[in-house]
Amino acid sequence: MYGILKTIHSYWSFLVLFILIIASFNAFIGRFTSREFRSKDLRISLFGLIFSHIQLVIGIVLYFITPWFNQWSELGMGVMKNNESRLYLVEHPIINILAIILITMGWSMHKRQSDSSKKFLRIALFYSLGLLLVLSRIPWNTWI
Ligand code: HEM
Repeated sequence: MYGILKTIHSYWSFLVLFILIIASFNAFIGRFTSREFRSKDLRISLFGLIFSHIQLVIGIVLYFITPWFNQWSELGMGVMKNNESRLYLVEHPIINILAIILITMGWSMHKRQSDSSKKFLRIALFYSLGLLLVLSRIPWNTWI
């Protein structure tokens, strides 16, 4: 179960990063070219939202079954003294949850706007900020 979930979480990350990059660029381009917000734009942003939410759910389950989790009972707050355990147990989950909150905010704020330019701006800012947060806490040394 752990191995399968870790592999899914790992491969799903490619999809999440890919769609967030596309959604952010698409929104910036839409904003700067002042074009209309069409159903294609809505779908791209919606995919970004759904894919990152699925990753959130997988991540939360993985958190409790990863061997890293035992470090809490073995070391307690000592997990903060080790770079790796701090990354997996504290920084990676918290920053990614924050990133997904931002993406969700961007999605719901764009829905409340009727003006295309404002829709693009909400998606562009919140999705790209979320993307930067996700990128900042990927365990690059062990991934791929
Ligand atoms: C968009 C959000 C996220 C992305 C892109 C992401 C990406 C990744 C990547 C690339 C790895 C390394 C996988 C590997 O070494 O094969 C990883 C590991 C991990 N992630 Fe996430 N993650 C996200 C959200 C979360 C969340 C929200 C949690 C927990 C609440 C979480 C928990 C974990 C854990 C516990 C590991 C370590 C698994 C292990 O090595 O045993 N992730 N994540």
